[in-house]
Amino acid sequence: MSDAETSDTHFMNSFSVVLGILIFIAICIFAYARWVGREQLRDQMTQAMQIQAVQRNIAPFAREAIAGQSSPSPATTAAPPTAPTAAIPATGKQAFEQVCSSCHGLGLNGAPKAGDRAAWAPRIAQGMAVLYQHALHGIRAMPPRGGTNWPDATIRAAVNYMVSLAK
Ligand code: HEC
Repeated sequence: MSDAETSDTHFMNSFSVVLGILIFIAICIFAYARWVGREQLRDQMTQAMQIQAVQRNIAPFAREAIAGQSSPSPATTAAPPTAPTAAIPATGKQAFEQVCSSCHGLGLNGAPKAGDRAAWAPRIAQGMAVLYQHALHGIRAMPPRGGTNWPDATIRAAVNYMVSLAK
């Protein structure tokens, strides 16, 4: 064996050992990380507040209720009893936050975004009567009453609130 070959073999041997040690350390770190995170993971899956928050996030933002009929509550969306979705909000701000913001908050589907003056200016220019009318009866992708069964006064208050945000 020549000198060059011996040193090559020697290099390959030590290189494999170093590589093996590094892989072993990586596996140990991975296992340790799993071990450290295990309690947090379990808490996330079992904590009542977490589960409620997830249910709130995946709940439909509005439910139709027809007078004289008991409103169907889909089995998949057992809303927590503390947050009845059918409750009529007391103020325009609450109405906005509960329902209208789901489209108007981010400006989805061409909905004028709350607080966006440029988007609201031409709409406000139509006059409040027209805005109320469109909020109550719908216009294009805007569903009547935002998809709720709230009384006129609540819808008007929500319109007032959104208009006030864009002034
Ligand atoms: C499903 C999405 C959605 C929800 C929920 C929603 N809106 Fe809208 N809204 C729209 C869209 C889209 C438009 C734009 C319609 C258009 O001009 O084409 C709009 C437009 C409007 C306008 C302007 C109408 C006009 O004449 O220019 C008002 C006022 C309004 N919405 C009020 C409300 C109120 C109040 C609520 C809550 C009770 C609400 N919206 C909930 C989608 C929504």
